[in-house]
Amino acid sequence: MGALAVCLHDVVFAYGRGRARQRPVLDIPSLEIAPGERFFLHGPSGCGKTTLLGLIAGVLLPQAGSIAIFGQALGALSPSARDRLRGAEMGYIFQGFNLIPYLSVRQNIALPCEVHAARRQRLGTTSITAEVERLAAALGLLPLLDQSVTELSTGQQQRVAIARATIGRPGLIVADEPTSALDTDRREQFLALLFELCENAGSTLLFVSHDRSLAGRFSRELALPVINRAASVREGLP
Ligand SMILES: Nc1ncnc2c1ncn2[C@@H]1O[C@H](COP(=O)(O)OP(=O)(O)O)[C@@H](O)[C@H]1O
Ligand SMILES: [Mg+2]
Repeated sequence: MGALAVCLHDVVFAYGRGRARQRPVLDIPSLEIAPGERFFLHGPSGCGKTTLLGLIAGVLLPQAGSIAIFGQALGALSPSARDRLRGAEMGYIFQGFNLIPYLSVRQNIALPCEVHAARRQRLGTTSITAEVERLAAALGLLPLLDQSVTELSTGQQQRVAIARATIGRPGLIVADEPTSALDTDRREQFLALLFELCENAGSTLLFVSHDRSLAGRFSRELALPVINRAASVREGLP
């Protein structure tokens, strides 16, 4: 079998440098996520969830330990190689979606394929336009494609964010609290769409939330903080 989607060992991370170094936010003995898993990471606000995603994305570097994404050790890569790996293999759904306000819905969805050759190459003979339209149809966004993203409702923005994260089939989709602003019904709809699109793209999903009630929808979970070597990965959730 291929490499793990995420493989993290003995990772310690603290913000600040030199004498301004703060106490570690994260101390994680082990976190391994296999390709195709739907993994749920939860914990109270401020416990380090977004920080952990920054480490997995290679935007932050740990003071100790190793992090590998699809078998590539981030610490061994140059900054530009880390950027390329992130662009090729990670689709990111941000807490506030971070859609580009001066681009249309269509341009926002197409962006990862325009910027990252690996995402574009995975489309094969399908054009970016055709793939954007296929995803938009699956997400009920077709009538909105040429609208500005500043005119969208929250639910519509979330669906654009799903399309942008999954286009070009990155190996790993990371979602940072994308459902915080939704009521229960809409949360369910959003999760169903996200799961469907991840499955179609063959992408592993790492989903972050402070809302533990969502855990049952996932195959595995990790509760943060995992400080002082108190690992708490639970397997085989119902
Ligand atoms: N850029 C930063 N510089 C210093 N401290 C930070 C920074 N970002 C986050 N923190 C601190 O790290 C801790 C974890 O933050 P974060 O990862 O955002 O938590 P969560 O996503 O679980 O709410 C918090 O105490 C936060 O204040
Ligand atoms: Mg956060």
